[in-house]
Amino acid sequence: MSLPSSVRQAITELSGKSADPLCAYVYDLPALEAHIRAMRAVLPANCELFYAAKANPEAPILHTLAPWVDGFEAASGGELRWLYQHHPDKPLIFGGPGKLDSELAAALDCGVAAFHVESLGELRRLATQARLHGKPAPVFLRLNVKLDEAPESRLVMGGKPTPFGLDEEAMEEAFSLLAAEPFLELQGLHFHLLSHQLDTQAHLKLMREYFRFFHKITDRHGLQLPTLNVGGGMGINYHDPERSFGWRAFCQALAALIDEEAMCGVRIRFEIGRFIAASCGYYVMQVLDIKRNHGLYFAVARGGTHHFRTPAAQGHDHPFEIIRGDGPAALENTKVTLVGQLCTPKDVLSREQAVAALGVGDLLVFPLAGAYAWNISHRDFLMHAPPEMVFLS
Ligand SMILES: Cc1ncc(COP(=O)(O)O)c(C=O)c1O
Repeated sequence: MSLPSSVRQAITELSGKSADPLCAYVYDLPALEAHIRAMRAVLPANCELFYAAKANPEAPILHTLAPWVDGFEAASGGELRWLYQHHPDKPLIFGGPGKLDSELAAALDCGVAAFHVESLGELRRLATQARLHGKPAPVFLRLNVKLDEAPESRLVMGGKPTPFGLDEEAMEEAFSLLAAEPFLELQGLHFHLLSHQLDTQAHLKLMREYFRFFHKITDRHGLQLPTLNVGGGMGINYHDPERSFGWRAFCQALAALIDEEAMCGVRIRFEIGRFIAASCGYYVMQVLDIKRNHGLYFAVARGGTHHFRTPAAQGHDHPFEIIRGDGPAALENTKVTLVGQLCTPKDVLSREQAVAALGVGDLLVFPLAGAYAWNISHRDFLMHAPPEMVFLS
């Protein structure tokens, strides 16, 4: 993986200006824009693309994406408030388990385009709030049902017992509740059964299952639902990004599948996080110390997993690039483990990695740090200073 020259140059300039050793997130917003435009360009006609803000809700990221997405997905009251504050005119959809009554009420106030209802209890509480507000609530039932083609990836959230969505038994009761409650307007079904999907063909098979299930349910209940939300989950291959989810091929085949499965009259909505945001972000740590301990080399760098939890969350050795400084190399053609400043042996970003040369003052640059990175990190631990946040435009 080689760094884009604009990113390399920006990082080098930053380190020249920094009084202390550098620790920063650098976001390549032009690359993000090019990526979302390319994703959008191949989307079949009756599909919509929402951004799942949980992947990275930084305001400049949202601002860059806003012209190219149909709306934003919020997974908490906090995200909803933030999205509404920054993009009051964009359609917002509201998912996630354990929504508070106060959050349901706030979502009604800001006129969300969809409530993704996770349980019967939540459906009842939403009905109460909608009645109290005198506002109809647009409902999507989030389903966790057994499909003929079981979803498979490293992170499966459905097709088996999980806290997410309604199973078939609960779904039938939900339809009775919906029929009896004038303030609830059923507008669609929602699936998000997995994340980290790298297999384009497997995902197409899953789409076919969703489409067939959608027809089965709408036929059974005599419903005309305008929208099917098919979630996100397109994966990034952190070690070989070229082998990440094949969005272009997927969209080409999807257009034919929509035709084959008679889904042209239904809006197909995606809510994608990781695949949109991961590649625009870089986490940068400057090396503070290089030591040998019980026969292994360690490079201790400024920052750590309290800023960048992705390697720990994924349980992987994160790929990195080295920008050499002016100092001598302390290590040559050897293996080194890259760690941060935390007093825990879990603060490891990459284990026993071969390096050609590494010295104190060099910069370690971790790519693919734009999604589920800073915002999933235990940033208050040890009260270290936060990283600089730099948005290249
Ligand atoms: C309901 C729901 N929708 C969308 C997403 C986005 O998934 P991803 O970032 O894998 O595209 C998630 C992620 O957990 C989710 O739970």
